[in-house]
Amino acid sequence: MSSSAYQSGFGNEFATEAIPGTLPVGRNSPQRAAHGLYAEQLTGTAFTAPRHANRRSWLYRIRPAAMHGAFSPFAQPRFHNDFGDHPVPPDQMRWNPLPLPEAPADFVEGLYTMAGNGSPAAQVGVGIHLYAANRDMQGRWFYDADGELLIVPQQGCLHLETELGVLDVEPQEIALIPRGIRFRVALPDGPSRGYVCENFGQMLKLPDLGPIGSNGLANARDFLFPVAAYEDREGDFELVAKFQGHLWRADIGHSPLDVVGWHGNYAPCKYDLRRFNTIGSISYDHPDPSIFLVLHSPSDTPGTSNMDLAIFPPRWLVAQDTFRPPWFHRNIASEFMGLIHGVYDAKAEGFAPGGASLHNSMTGHGPDAATFEKASNADLSRPDVVTDTMAFMFETRAVIRPTLQAMQAPHRQRDYQACWAGLHRQFRAP
Ligand SMILES: [Fe+2]
Repeated sequence: MSSSAYQSGFGNEFATEAIPGTLPVGRNSPQRAAHGLYAEQLTGTAFTAPRHANRRSWLYRIRPAAMHGAFSPFAQPRFHNDFGDHPVPPDQMRWNPLPLPEAPADFVEGLYTMAGNGSPAAQVGVGIHLYAANRDMQGRWFYDADGELLIVPQQGCLHLETELGVLDVEPQEIALIPRGIRFRVALPDGPSRGYVCENFGQMLKLPDLGPIGSNGLANARDFLFPVAAYEDREGDFELVAKFQGHLWRADIGHSPLDVVGWHGNYAPCKYDLRRFNTIGSISYDHPDPSIFLVLHSPSDTPGTSNMDLAIFPPRWLVAQDTFRPPWFHRNIASEFMGLIHGVYDAKAEGFAPGGASLHNSMTGHGPDAATFEKASNADLSRPDVVTDTMAFMFETRAVIRPTLQAMQAPHRQRDYQACWAGLHRQFRAP
């Protein structure tokens, strides 16, 4: 199952089979499934969730997912959901890129937890991780029962072989892997790095568009889902599970990627961030950055997300009598940012591709001194164009707690606050 092929449309009900005649007609679990396969349902929402929100797929596979050995702990201490009870300083924080590993490390071994809030047990909050890996997962498959995985590659493509088919994802694309889906990560470009948001809350969805209308922001048809593909392999393999904050491993005697056909709306997908329809002011001022919202995980409070994915893509800046880069601000929400490509327009230096920043609730932040000076004196008679950039933000309702390993990391920039030190007093009383 090495090649990828796609079908499009976020929220669509798909039906796909690698061998003709696999999918039953007019029923989900016939007395005997075709070709000697087993029928298995995988649900991602409560059975009784409203129809528009209900997500499930039927899988027709060589062996049921129940077939594997007993689980025992899998040692990988850098990846967890222990966001601790240590005091979290309200400092602005920033990190250099996570160094690539020197010893062999696959995707699971290369995960590094930066921060998070909530918990898988409460089904609220997020885990925010980086990965830095240099080899393919070999004879090993992984699934996360705790959260949906939003994977944001920064360096190197990811070849994701999943139970429901293959996704090839390159930097400036994202992948979404729902809870429970088993997959393997190969690294066709060698050493690779990126970001992972583990969403413990409600599944990510496209935002409502309100007065924007029926088009705009991320369009549903640009989300690509795999067609069915399977492998029929036996051997001494390993299944790794993330369950209630910890990793577990079990022996498995076959590849779990043995789904010959599936139908439903619970499936992994990818999206190219460069297809985002970016909307902004054509008169003056900035809309709030919610105008850059790609996907969000709702909370139980209307209008308040458990987690938002927003991006800052290339765009034209035309607003008049306006400071065009992002302004100074403090928010009730908490913001974890990363840079996938190029330069972020609110910072002159220090925020490198693969780096990260954290601005928690009510912590002041905004353009650095150099950006403020430049934008305050810019010629607004002409438009600016921001090219060669792709930054993103995981924004959450709850405070994002950095882990102790992230707070103490050698690659944390302990002088980050200095970027605002050059903002001199300009006030003169009339
Ligand atoms: Fe911000």
